[in-house]
Amino acid sequence: MERLDKYLCDSGVGTRSQVKAILKSGRVTVEGKPEKDPGRKIDPAVQTICLDGEVLGGMRRAVVMLNKPAGFVTATEDPVEKTVMELLPPEMKHLDLKPVGRLDKATEGLLLFTNDGSLLHQLISPKKEVPKIYYARHEGQAGEEDVKAFASRITLRDGTVCLPAVLEPLGPGESLITVCEGKYHQVRRMMASRNMTVAYLERRQEGELTLGSLPRGAVRELTETEIQNLEALAQGKLPYNK
Ligand code: URA
Repeated sequence: MERLDKYLCDSGVGTRSQVKAILKSGRVTVEGKPEKDPGRKIDPAVQTICLDGEVLGGMRRAVVMLNKPAGFVTATEDPVEKTVMELLPPEMKHLDLKPVGRLDKATEGLLLFTNDGSLLHQLISPKKEVPKIYYARHEGQAGEEDVKAFASRITLRDGTVCLPAVLEPLGPGESLITVCEGKYHQVRRMMASRNMTVAYLERRQEGELTLGSLPRGAVRELTETEIQNLEALAQGKLPYNK
């Protein structure tokens, strides 16, 4: 932690007296909020400091979890639909977050956002095999043959072959599905190929991350440890990857 005025001087913003005047005029923000106190203690490694809206010393890395409600499309903008970006609180707007992969408009549950492009690509790459667990309510009842078909690569109705996946029947019309890739409408299409049309879909887990007690529509930032675990998983350093 260091004083804000010292950090601004060290970043070349100006002399100590210039920095004092700049702070007084409200041109500096910490985590998106105007800050006038020169003695404010900041940690530039984890906080974003801006002068006139420009980030000083580079943007800090952030990973955010949303418990997505139905009715929002996963896109940064859309001319017609409400997007998941609208669910991010105003104090996160300056972080330049992008959704990691996508959930369908009707799908609920765990959706990550990050401003770390390399982590984003690792997490959506089928080569990295980060497992995602979905809960589905569907027509019919999943049986032993369906479980085997998922394990030995489902062929979708358009001929696309999926990576091996895990189907775990929970009861009549309810299953958990674990997949390591993110093809368009993947889980719905995998289930449809076995004549089990999905009526409701929720992503419950990605790697080790679960929704926990995060309410639907709410957002929370991941801790540095959670981010490091995600990275380790995407880099094959945890036992999930074969
Ligand atoms: N599979 C789907 O079919 N839809 C989603 O939103 C996510 C996975």
